[in-house]
Amino acid sequence: MPGLTIGDDLPNLQVETNHGKMKLHDYVGDSYTILFSHPGDFTPVCTTELAMMAAYANKFAERGVKLLGLSCDDVQSHNEWIKDIEAYNKGHKVTYPIIADPNRELIKQLNMVDPDEIDSSGYNLPSRALHIVGPDKKIKLSFLYPASTGRNMDEVLRVVESLQKAAKYKVATPANWKPGEPVVIAPAVSNEEAKEMFPQGFDTANLPSGKGYLRFTNV
Ligand code: BEZ
Repeated sequence: MPGLTIGDDLPNLQVETNHGKMKLHDYVGDSYTILFSHPGDFTPVCTTELAMMAAYANKFAERGVKLLGLSCDDVQSHNEWIKDIEAYNKGHKVTYPIIADPNRELIKQLNMVDPDEIDSSGYNLPSRALHIVGPDKKIKLSFLYPASTGRNMDEVLRVVESLQKAAKYKVATPANWKPGEPVVIAPAVSNEEAKEMFPQGFDTANLPSGKGYLRFTNV
């Protein structure tokens, strides 16, 4: 069976976190939520990632996005680890909850397993998985990084902005897009509709096919 991926419903699992027990859908509520997993507590790259997420927490909150970590150690270990993360972080508190998954059941259901990382007891560890969940509780974006590669939170923030623009305006964001740059108009929007929807106007790239499908606007 293929694992949880974009377009799927986030399973409404009961989880234990360092902020108490919760159902995933209750946590998501009406917000976008970033659910991100880590191979383990007290590991170097993970410590930098959780610290960086804490540093970016306000930027995500300004965009209505909640954060929810997962690491397969237990809650007591998470609480001890947070002291290290905050000490490393110098000033940014870890205010988001971190799910515990000592039996590795959640990571299977959430498609966060790294087949190449096995702990000393022979259990699979989580990959650096990240799901962006929409207010409709569906997975909007999903990626899996190996343990050796820490994630770039600027990229996570960039895709949040892209997802939110696409949901609001029937646009998409082109390669290497950054917030503030022109976006492209979705192919399903006719030129007549585009004139109504984008009164600020749009530019159509002049390409050999003459099909006029690459249209840029600002929103
Ligand atoms: C780390 O977070 O540094 C890490 C964790 C598991 C395997 C390799 C690196």
